[in-house]
Amino acid sequence: MSNVYEIINSRSSKRAYLPKPVPKDIQEKILKAAAQTPSGANMQPWITYAISDESTLKKVGDAIIKAMDDGVENDQFIQYYPIEWKNPYKKRRVVTGAGLYKLMEVDRKDNDTRIEMWKDNFRWFGAKTVFFVFTDKANIEGAQGAILDCGAYMQSIMLLAKEEGLDTCPQGSTTEFGRIVARELNVPENLALLYSVVIGYEDKDAKINSYQPERVGLDESVIFI
Ligand SMILES: Cc1cc2nc3c(=O)[nH]c(=O)nc-3n(C[C@H](O)[C@H](O)[C@H](O)COP(=O)(O)O)c2cc1C
Repeated sequence: MSNVYEIINSRSSKRAYLPKPVPKDIQEKILKAAAQTPSGANMQPWITYAISDESTLKKVGDAIIKAMDDGVENDQFIQYYPIEWKNPYKKRRVVTGAGLYKLMEVDRKDNDTRIEMWKDNFRWFGAKTVFFVFTDKANIEGAQGAILDCGAYMQSIMLLAKEEGLDTCPQGSTTEFGRIVARELNVPENLALLYSVVIGYEDKDAKINSYQPERVGLDESVIFI
């Protein structure tokens, strides 16, 4: 696959993986090319922990799940989602969530199953490789540009993964527990977690992986003048 349109149009977030780590040489190839992502003043604000060590991933995931069970809502460096959801974004979020639960035959009111499904984020959806992307806290104190740059870097990773026959799931769920991730990974004090990306081999038999939420038309998102 080498057409950018094809790659972009065929990518979707996958939430079930085969238990197979991504070989280090492929990780390096992807991360080297992703480093070509442009950034303001060529700052290259991303610092990536590429983790395939099973016990480390389990340690991080278990710590987050424990925090959730203890009633911790978040423990984060940055606030990813809006504090107050407004339409049309609120409606899009509801429609997207409802579509996934409908596909998985989970009742809208079955909160326990929904929480269990969310916790799957922290079991890395069965994948064995996860990229955790940090930036220096100094980059995001009173400034947001580095977050934009790291977002573009995220898309580069996801598209390059497709090119390598891999799939991904970006995770803001870890953003919400970024301080726990940082603590468990023992990263230097100056780093803040922005997000993670699960990367691996899609389980093609998993129903959840057939979910492809639609996008609104250009009439709702673009103004041509
Ligand atoms: C920054 C970011 C964070 C996300 N966080 C999560 C997450 O924590 N868990 C999850 O299952 N999906 C997560 N997603 C996936 C979105 O739900 C998904 O991109 C969106 O519904 C569109 O679907 P698609 O990626 O399949 O096209 C995230 C996406 C982005 C871009």
